[in-house]
Amino acid sequence: MERLLAPSILAADFSVLGEQIRQADEAGADYIHIDVMDGMFVPSISFGMPLIASVRRETKKLFDVHLMVQDPERYLDDFAKCGADSITVHAEACRHLDRTLHQIKEMGLRTGVALNPATPLCALDYVLDKTDMILIMTVNPGFGGQAFIESSLDKIRTLRERLDCSGRRTDIEVDGGMNADTLPRVLKAGANVIVAGSAVFRGDIAKNVRALKELMK
Ligand code: DX5
Ligand code: ZN
Repeated sequence: MERLLAPSILAADFSVLGEQIRQADEAGADYIHIDVMDGMFVPSISFGMPLIASVRRETKKLFDVHLMVQDPERYLDDFAKCGADSITVHAEACRHLDRTLHQIKEMGLRTGVALNPATPLCALDYVLDKTDMILIMTVNPGFGGQAFIESSLDKIRTLRERLDCSGRRTDIEVDGGMNADTLPRVLKAGANVIVAGSAVFRGDIAKNVRALKELMK
């Protein structure tokens, strides 16, 4: 599986967001991870469609939109229109996950299903055929800069084994607490798409991106 880095703009300086996205892009970021938080499904509120629309012209890289939003099916069209290339919804936030994934696919976008740390892998059992990427939360969602939850490693390993057994080459994305220590461990466990917020946007962005990409080789 190709190893991809997805900097999370939640950790960026929004007063110069376009510039910082360009820096991450030019330094080698593969995706731009966009954390939408609604204050209901998660405690924080981050940003929404207007911000995504305004930065869409800054980069051609894939917009990996992570909806930490209750009943996200209400907004799929809006996020498609403002520039999402991939939409990840939380299994815990969808009353009708199968239908929601079908709707995202119908719009020609990539689909993702996110699982919170306490949600078992069996939540994926009947939607794997509609899922391009599985996001394993390695922190409880809602904030950047949290500590990595160690039990996620076993979950990632088990998921990769199950996908390999079924012959599926589904991406496993991990999100939360990624840094020079945790990143090699999740790669070894079988993840291949790495979300990093603080580890990219705190300090020298280009240098941070290059250092993380080096670790992913
Ligand atoms: C948390 C978000 C993560 C977060 C990652 O709810 O989904 O993407 O921004 O931030 P770091 O990499 O700083 O843990
Ligand atoms: Zn995220």
